[in-house]
Amino acid sequence: MSFPVLAPAEAAELIAHGARIGFSGFTPAGSAKAIPRALAVRAESEHAAGRPFRVGVLTGASTGPSLDGALAAALAIQFRTPYQSDPLLRKQINSGEVEFVDLHLSTLPQALRYGHLGKLDWAVVEVAEVSANGEAVLTTSVGASNTYLRSAERVLLEVNRRAPAALRGFHDLFEPEDPPTRRELPIFNVEDRAGLPVAQIPPEKIAGVVYTDEVDECGSFGPATEVTARIGAHIADFLAAERLAGRIPNGFLPLQSGVGEVANSVLAALGAHPYIPVFAMYTEVLQDSVLELLLSGRIRFASTSALTLSPASQERFFAELEYFRPRVVLRPQEISNHPEIVRRLGLISLNTAIEFDLCGNVNSTHVLGRNLMNGLGGSGDFTRNAYLSIFSCASTTKGGAISTVVPLVSHCDHNEHSVQVVVTEQGVADLRGLDPWQRARRIIERCAHPNYREGLLAYLAQCPPGHQPLDHRSALSWHERFAATGTMLAKQDAVLT
Ligand code: COA
Repeated sequence: MSFPVLAPAEAAELIAHGARIGFSGFTPAGSAKAIPRALAVRAESEHAAGRPFRVGVLTGASTGPSLDGALAAALAIQFRTPYQSDPLLRKQINSGEVEFVDLHLSTLPQALRYGHLGKLDWAVVEVAEVSANGEAVLTTSVGASNTYLRSAERVLLEVNRRAPAALRGFHDLFEPEDPPTRRELPIFNVEDRAGLPVAQIPPEKIAGVVYTDEVDECGSFGPATEVTARIGAHIADFLAAERLAGRIPNGFLPLQSGVGEVANSVLAALGAHPYIPVFAMYTEVLQDSVLELLLSGRIRFASTSALTLSPASQERFFAELEYFRPRVVLRPQEISNHPEIVRRLGLISLNTAIEFDLCGNVNSTHVLGRNLMNGLGGSGDFTRNAYLSIFSCASTTKGGAISTVVPLVSHCDHNEHSVQVVVTEQGVADLRGLDPWQRARRIIERCAHPNYREGLLAYLAQCPPGHQPLDHRSALSWHERFAATGTMLAKQDAVLT
C-alpha cells in the first residue's frame, strides 16, 4: 500500500477543531515538527476568520518550539498532558487558559488505554521510515508513540530524512497487558529486550506521510557552574563512599538521571570519579554527557526513552550508529519508567528539586505552590521505587532571595517516605534511618545555605512536640514573605551573598 504524500498544510487540514492528538516527542527528541507548525498556521487563519480552533495535545513529555511553542503562540492548545517546558505554554497553563494534567510519565499510556484520557483522534508521529505494510521505524525517542499509533483512529507520519533508516533495531517496543491479566515485564537486565524493533501500524489508518529533513530542537549545555560542579562532586563522592561501605554492590547499580545542568554535572563527576566503576543507565533521557561517557567506555550500556542530544552530538550519534547499537536501547516511557523494573533493577535515581523541606518532602513542580514549572515527569516513577533516591538543587535561587530548603514545601510531589538523600552545593544529607527531628537537623546542617540556617533553626525551635516538626502558623511564612517582599530573608537576617 502506498500512502498519500502530503504537504504539512494538507496534513493539518485533516485535523478538526477539538481533536485530541497524540504527538511523538519525549523532550524535543523525535518530536513531530512540521505538522504541528502547520497546525499552528491553520489555527491562526481559523481564528482570523472568526472560527474556534483548539486541540488536545498529548505527547511523551516536553517537546520543542515547533510543537508546544508554535501551538501555544497560535492559542491552539485546549488541553495538554503529561509534561511541558515551554515558557509561553507555562504562562497559559498558569493563567487557566490551557487545561493541564500533570501525570507520572509511566502511567500515561495505560491511562489512555484504560479510557481515562478520552478518545484519541490522531497520532502524529515522526519516523525514520515506513514500509507499505505499515511497519515504522521511530526516530530519536519512543515516549508514548507506540501506544498513540495503536490507539488513535487515524495516523499522520512525518518521515524525517535526516534520521537514518539504520536506526532500525535501536527500539524495543511493547505494551504490557491490561489488568487483570498483566504478566511480569521481562526486563531483568538493563539491556534486555522484550518487544519489536518497529511499530506496526494498520496501513488503512495512515492518512498520509509528510517528508521532512529536520534536526531535533534540543539545546546544549554550557560548562558546569561552581554550584553545579559542587553538587556533582558531592553526589559522586557520596556514591563512591556508599560503594566502599558495601551499601552499593561493587559492580554498582544502574543509574537514572534527570535532565538539565545539574544532571549533566553529576554525570560528568560520576564519569571522572576514580572509585565509581564502569556503570549502566536505566533512564528516560540520555543527554550529551551520557554520550561522552558511552564513547569513553565509562558507561557500558544505556536504556532510555529519548536521545536528547545537541545537534552536534546527534550528528555524532548518527555517524557512529554501529558503535552505539550494542550499547543503547530506546524504550516506551511505560517501560523505561516502569515501577516494577525500577524496583527490580535497584536503580539509583537522581532528580532535581525546586525546593525541599525539613522533613524531606520534595516539590518538583510548583513555584510557591501555585505556578507550574514543567511537571512531574518521570521523577515520581523513579523516586518511589529506586534502591536509592536522591534529589539535588542549589541551596538558594534568585540571587539568594529564595532558600530551596524551607520549613514546609509549598507543594509536595515526593514525600518523606520516598526521598532518601538530599544534596545542595553545601553538602549531602543522608536521611535514611533518621527520625523526623533528626532529619530536620541534618538537612539544616548539611544542605541549607548559611544565610538561612539560623532562620530554619529558629523555626525548628518553635515547633511544638509531635512526631513531625511542624508549626501550623509559620510553616509557609517563608513563602508568604517572599511573595510580599521579594525575599525569604527576614530583615534581621544576614545580607544576601
Ligand atoms: N522557587 C522559585 N523559583 C525557583 C525555585 C524555587 N524554590 N527553584 C528554582 N526556581 C527557578 C529558578 O530560579 C529558575 O528560574 P529562571 O528560569 O527564571 O532562571 C527555574 O526555576 C529553573 O531552575 P533551575 O535551577 O535552572 O533548574 P533546572 O533547569 O535544573 O530545573 C526543575 C529544575 C525541578 C524545574 C526540573 O528538573 C523539573 O522540571 N523537574 C521535574 C521533572 C523531572 O524531575 N523529571 C525527571 C526525569 S527527566
